[in-house]
Amino acid sequence: MPIAIFGSINIDLTAYAERLPRPGETVHGERYALGLGGKGCNQAVAACRLGAETALVGRIGTDEFGNRALAELAALKVPTGGVFRDAESATGIAVIGVDATAQNCITVIGGANMAIGAADVERAAETFRGADILLLQMEIPLEAGLLAADLVRETGGEVILDPAPAPAGGYATDVLARIDLITPNETETELLTGLRPTNAAEAAEAAGLLRAKGAGAAVVKLGAAGVFYQDAASEGFVEPFKVESIDSVAAGDCFNGGLAVALSEGRPLGEAVRFAAACGALSTTKAGASSSAPTRAEVEALLKRG
Ligand code: RIB
Repeated sequence: MPIAIFGSINIDLTAYAERLPRPGETVHGERYALGLGGKGCNQAVAACRLGAETALVGRIGTDEFGNRALAELAALKVPTGGVFRDAESATGIAVIGVDATAQNCITVIGGANMAIGAADVERAAETFRGADILLLQMEIPLEAGLLAADLVRETGGEVILDPAPAPAGGYATDVLARIDLITPNETETELLTGLRPTNAAEAAEAAGLLRAKGAGAAVVKLGAAGVFYQDAASEGFVEPFKVESIDSVAAGDCFNGGLAVALSEGRPLGEAVRFAAACGALSTTKAGASSSAPTRAEVEALLKRG
C-alpha cells in the first residue's frame, strides 16, 4: 500500500554564502541554484527514491515554475496524478540562504500551495483512502490537511505530521488527536510545548507534553544532537550519524520520507527513527532540497557503518 504525501511543491532559489546576512545587511554570496523543493515535494521524492510506492497530492500554478516542477518530478519518477494546476495562483517559491556551516534560513511564498482546500481533498479522496501512511507538513492550510488525515485514518492508515513551520500559538488538542505521530524539531517543539529541548531528557519531557495534548507518538528532532522518540509502548534516543554536511536544506523532509518508508515496511518505531536519521544525515551531504534525497543503498551503507 502506498505512502501519500499531501503538501507543498515549490521552486527554491538558494544562495550559498560564507555566512547568512543579519537584518539590514548585504553579503556577497558564492553561487546560487534554482531547484525543486517544498516540504511535501521533498518528502515525496525522499520516499520514492527509497523505493516506496508514493502518491503526491498538491497544487501548482500554470506558470513556468509549475511546468518546471512537473518536469523535475517526472524526471525523478514521482507520480504526478495528484498534482493539480491552478490558473489563479502562482507556483510556490522559497528564497533560501545557506552558509558555510550548512545552516539555512528560508522564506516561503506559498502561492498555489495555500489555495489548497476541501475540493482538492475530494479530488484525491481515493488516494487518501488507499494510503497506509499520510505525510503532512504545514505549508498548506491545516484544515485541508486534517480532512485528508480523517480519510486516511477512516480506512486504517496512519498520519505523520511534520509541524513545519509550526503555528506560534501551538495546536488545539483536537488537532493533535487527529494525527498519529508528530515530528517537530527543537524550534517547533518550543512553539508547541514551551520547552526548547537540547538533550534526550528535555526531549522526553516535551514528547510527553505532545502526547498529553493528543498525539499518539512524538519524534523530537534535535538536529546534530540526535533524535528522541516516544509512543505508548516504547521510547529511546538515536545518536546522530557523523557525516560531512554542506547543506541542511530538506534534511527534515528526507528524515520524514525515510520514517514513513521504514514504518510502512513494518519496522518498530526505534528502528524506523534510526533509518530516518540516516536519511536526514545523508541529505546534508548533498546540495539542494529534493535533489538531496539519498538512495536506499546509501542509507543501508550508513546504517552499517554507524
Ligand atoms: O524543508 C525545506 C523546504 O522548505 C525547501 O525545499 C523550501 O521549499 C521550503 O518549503
